[in-house]
Amino acid sequence: MDRNLALEVVRVTEAAALSAARLMGRGEKDAADQAAVTAMRNAFESLAIRGTVVIGEGERDEAPMLFIGEKVGMGDKNDPEVDIAVDPLEGTNLCAYGRPNALAVIAMAERGKLLHAPDIYMSKIAVGSDAKGVIDLDKSPTANLKAIADAKGVYVEDLTAVILERDRHANLINEVRKAGARVHLISDGDVSAAIATCLPDSGIDVLFGIGGAPEGVLAAAALKCVGGDMQARLVARNTHDKDRCVSMGISNPDQKWHLEELARGDVMFAATGVTSGDMLKGVRYFKGGAKTHSLVMRSRSGTIRLIETDHHFDRKPQFGF
Ligand code: FBP
Repeated sequence: MDRNLALEVVRVTEAAALSAARLMGRGEKDAADQAAVTAMRNAFESLAIRGTVVIGEGERDEAPMLFIGEKVGMGDKNDPEVDIAVDPLEGTNLCAYGRPNALAVIAMAERGKLLHAPDIYMSKIAVGSDAKGVIDLDKSPTANLKAIADAKGVYVEDLTAVILERDRHANLINEVRKAGARVHLISDGDVSAAIATCLPDSGIDVLFGIGGAPEGVLAAAALKCVGGDMQARLVARNTHDKDRCVSMGISNPDQKWHLEELARGDVMFAATGVTSGDMLKGVRYFKGGAKTHSLVMRSRSGTIRLIETDHHFDRKPQFGF
């Protein structure tokens, strides 16, 4: 993948964020999601890639745009063939209610290098680079916290675990509290939470719990770029989920996936803030335009770019509504 592509990819997340942010706080999560999807789909048309959506809005029959298998990009025969994972609006409720950390997100890798995960749940553990190599999803949260604390040279009591606030996490939350760690509960947005484990000033040390599998692959791509670590296992709750795994080429739904298996090879990750959060500022409007704040990273070089962009609606009428 050409390194300049990273700077092109960010236009796609910017377009999605600019469109979704117009609907921030209106309580209409589906409308905000649809705005992001449409803008992202349109923006792909000017990207010099032969892309295949492997993580998207759903199957072809349930999603008219950015469905799994859809071809995106200009598609010239000399353009690179890539796998694309998208979440045009990660945190639809966060945007709909004006809460922090809603993002527009893309990950890109060479063809066949991203896990083709079905849209089911996934159990995840994620940490930053200072705890790389010590986590194990097969071990208890208590054992993982001890290993992370040892790797960081701190007490378990110094660690903060971020967990989605869901009934299914009641036992997990109790165990983490009992182990002595601090708990940060979030209403949504575990991609941003996974990345926060790698940000020195976030105060977050580990992500535990079950969230969406598509979000898991996107988080893995980001963590790979920033040198973090993650393990995951799909949670197939019924025959339908198991069939979805098999139809996507995953014969053993109970397999434990390591970071390198979730996102292999040279990976690119881009995100633009929709609402302001730990890592990115949200879309901010000014007379005649808006500012966006984006993150672009690439695993091969480890380069992390934070990009502030001024968009002028007289020259970009599609965002000036
Ligand atoms: P959406 O953007 O699709 O609303 O997902 C938000 C999210 O919180 C993800 O970050 C997370 O992985 C997933 O939902 C958890 O799913 P659920 O809300 O069903 O627990």
